[in-house]
Amino acid sequence: MQSFRKSAINLAVLNKQFVRSVTVSSSAVNSNENCQELKSWREIPGPSSLPLIGQIHHFLPGGSLHTIESNMGLSEKLYQLFGPIVRLDGAFGSPSIIFLFDAEASSQILRNENWMPIRIGFQSLEYFRKNYKKSERDQNESTGLITEQLEPWKKFRSTVNPIMLQTKTIKLYRNSLIEVAEDMIKRMKLIRNEKNMLEGKFDEEMNLWALESIALVALGGRLNCLDRSLPENSPERKLIQTIHDIFKTAEEIDFKPSLWRYISTPTFKKAMNMYETQVELSKFFIGKAIKQLETKDKNLNEEKGILEKLLEIDENTAVTMASDMLFAGVDTAANTMTATLYLLGTNPEKQIKLRKEIMSGKEERSYLKACIKESMRMLPVVAGNMRQTTKEYDILGYRIPKDMHVSFGHQFLSSMEEQFPRAKEYIPERWITEKTDPLHHSNAHPFAFSPFGFGARSCIGRRIAELEIEIFLAKVIENFHVEWFGPPLKVKPSTLNYITEPFNFVFKDVK
Ligand code: HEM
Repeated sequence: MQSFRKSAINLAVLNKQFVRSVTVSSSAVNSNENCQELKSWREIPGPSSLPLIGQIHHFLPGGSLHTIESNMGLSEKLYQLFGPIVRLDGAFGSPSIIFLFDAEASSQILRNENWMPIRIGFQSLEYFRKNYKKSERDQNESTGLITEQLEPWKKFRSTVNPIMLQTKTIKLYRNSLIEVAEDMIKRMKLIRNEKNMLEGKFDEEMNLWALESIALVALGGRLNCLDRSLPENSPERKLIQTIHDIFKTAEEIDFKPSLWRYISTPTFKKAMNMYETQVELSKFFIGKAIKQLETKDKNLNEEKGILEKLLEIDENTAVTMASDMLFAGVDTAANTMTATLYLLGTNPEKQIKLRKEIMSGKEERSYLKACIKESMRMLPVVAGNMRQTTKEYDILGYRIPKDMHVSFGHQFLSSMEEQFPRAKEYIPERWITEKTDPLHHSNAHPFAFSPFGFGARSCIGRRIAELEIEIFLAKVIENFHVEWFGPPLKVKPSTLNYITEPFNFVFKDVK
């Protein structure tokens, strides 16, 4: 084992020293003048393979990649062992993946894949939307941004982009999001115990806030899921639980070797049921919203909301987009909020500075934005972006074929000292300081920080998420001194980076 580790580390060093070389097949850029002899992608370093089972034994109990005691998860381990480009072989029908931990090489692929980027991820969800109960579905209807690729994705994205990304439309939600934040603060005060800690599960509390916030946009109104009398078996609670369970199950069947592509495994059946429940619940809430819209006084001068505009296209577009918003907008925003609170709780001087900005009543809150950005650098909820290549690339000395799955490890890149000096420290100032300051973020490679992904396929909910988080974070800091005690927070890297128990937060009133 020792010698395997040693040789793997040597390999990593060699890889790091490799003359940077990126070329793209015939039609594209060639940034490598003194191209070295290219190797096949199969020669990319990675865990050793055994006949029949491939690399799986490394992930089984006792294997070198089974338990990883780091918030960074697999990335750090792979980089340490194999360097900036690593191959993980597919098994049981799941594809092989190339992991890239090199900002410049990432930029070459991502920029060249920005016409109609393919992002394969939730394949079981795609199967559900496209094949499961096929007869009940109009085959011409889009299945949405998360599951469509190429032309159908482009068609749907260009239809919803002008609605989802318009600043004027998003600003419409400001006041309602402030109400949600204020209700959440009231709830936090109510459920605080004598130790000033929140009773119950903190992650579920943050999910409730995130769901209430995104539902305003997706479903056109308040769900009232912050109401303490909300029954355990209410549709709201069911929706939260379903979304949470979907991400956990997707990890099992989409991102780990699984036999579901050949046989209907119990986890596959569970996933199909969950997807069905999510669609039914989305339809239920949208149905309620449509009824409310029908009874609303029509004011022609009033700017219409996102759901109203989507419904004007057609009901399927509204239901599909709402489903995707609920799917992608709850756990992501909730974990980002928790990460930011933790980093402010463990960096009291930054929290004092932020509170000063908030209390000053200034409209421009640059430090607030910087605090959120810095926590997304240190504890991003999505560890890496994925693409399936639509052409061939020559990257770091290897030929990457078309149709290859590539993961761009931005979490790891943004934790590198060479990209962000004093990378382990929470320094929101790096996002707003003078350009001449060595800490200034522009000294990092632009592809070393991309928590919302890249280009045409990047997060469509980014502006909504930023607004929600800015509003709620400002309210929390205005109301509470946030503290954290005990050992550092724990992250369980999965489909998303989930922050896990114990949540050692203390919320003391700001007098
Ligand atoms: C802090 C919160 C969030 C983070 C960090 C985040 C991050 C991401 C990332 C990394 C991607 C993949 C981008 C790529 O492949 O280049 C993505 C896609 C997406 N996100 Fe978000 N997201 C957040 C919140 C939201 C919210 C609130 C919504 C709801 C509106 C949302 C909806 C989506 C959708 C629908 C996609 C798929 C876009 C497409 O493929 O065209 N996200 N998000």
